[in-house]
Amino acid sequence: MRITNPTIFYSVLLLALLHVGCKENKKESQSEMETVKTDSKQNPIEETVFGEMPDGTKVKKFTLKNEAGMEVDVITYGGIITRWTAPDKNGLYEDIVLGYDNLEQYLDGNPYFGALIGRYGNRIADGKFTLDGNTYNLATNDGDNHLHGGEKGFDKVLWTGVAKNNEDGASVELTYTSQDGEEGYPGKLDVKVTYTLTDDNELDIQYQAVTDKPTIVNLTQHSYFNLSGRLTEKVLDHELHLNADSFLPVDGGLIPTGELRQVSGTPFDFKEPKLIGAEIEADNEQLKLGLGYDHCWVLNQGEDDFSLAATVHHPKSGRFMEVYTNEPGMQFYSGNFLDGTLPAKNGGTYAQRSGFCLETQHFPDSPNQNDFPSVRLDPGETYASRTLYKLSTK
Ligand code: BGC
Repeated sequence: MRITNPTIFYSVLLLALLHVGCKENKKESQSEMETVKTDSKQNPIEETVFGEMPDGTKVKKFTLKNEAGMEVDVITYGGIITRWTAPDKNGLYEDIVLGYDNLEQYLDGNPYFGALIGRYGNRIADGKFTLDGNTYNLATNDGDNHLHGGEKGFDKVLWTGVAKNNEDGASVELTYTSQDGEEGYPGKLDVKVTYTLTDDNELDIQYQAVTDKPTIVNLTQHSYFNLSGRLTEKVLDHELHLNADSFLPVDGGLIPTGELRQVSGTPFDFKEPKLIGAEIEADNEQLKLGLGYDHCWVLNQGEDDFSLAATVHHPKSGRFMEVYTNEPGMQFYSGNFLDGTLPAKNGGTYAQRSGFCLETQHFPDSPNQNDFPSVRLDPGETYASRTLYKLSTK
């Protein structure tokens, strides 16, 4: 069609220009939409029943999923991560955390597999500490010392779980109120832990707590990883890097002596990636005390406080994990007390050193060591801790 009337010609031209302009705008707003985070990503979160407590209370299981195909199962008993799948270099998703198939096994005796630890992750010497002149007595559930919150720590309580989709991914929010005096600790402590699985294969764990009396808090997560996906095999063939120039030597009860010792020239030097098995059997007094690695490393804090603390690479599968935290310490535990008696998820048993833990935390026994960063929490303050585990391959 030829347009001869100039008025019509210019009108058509104007319309055409407007149309192109609109298209350009649309394109812009579309690309804006891609980068703007939505309120709800609607990644699927499945909620099922994992089992029943002896009194009949149901324990829920939340399965967080992401677009990449990763899945993380979290139960309301102990806030335990019971399963976590990650791809190897060929894209094969396998479970990378030790644990059990059913609740009964968790209730039967569990070396803190996958659990939330509190009120105090790690040890307090003689189960005693003093705050504002008052001495508090805690359970001595690890020889003469207090370990991981006592007889019934946060790993053995029922949390309230709520599934949430937020802008970062699929989340489950766990809350628990620890009563004043529970396990000997002062103050009523309201705790919230949020696990969020992002589409970048990150599990972001955010901890918050408030108290109504001065108290102490040191929360952590106790997943035992085996990046090979062969959960009963030893992790000695994993390469570990710890961003730490020093570690805390311990006494016979695994209580820090108070010294910060340089790692250079010792089997505790993971400043460059090194096989976990490379020096674990070295003739070293500290390794003998821990039956392997069971020590807290003093992290080199990044400027923004939330920084890369550790990496682990399993060359055969290609799985690679990064750990970011705002905590000053990292307990690296090489699964030394696993003894081949506990039943594994896919058959067999968990051999010694078939899993490693990277527990981000304040230093062990801080309430009794004035030179360590404080673990005190006062009314009106909010305890906030964050750890992010990111999985990829290389
Ligand atoms: C501790 C180990 C302890 C283990 C219990 C770790 O966090 O460092 O000494 O045996 O927890 O499973």
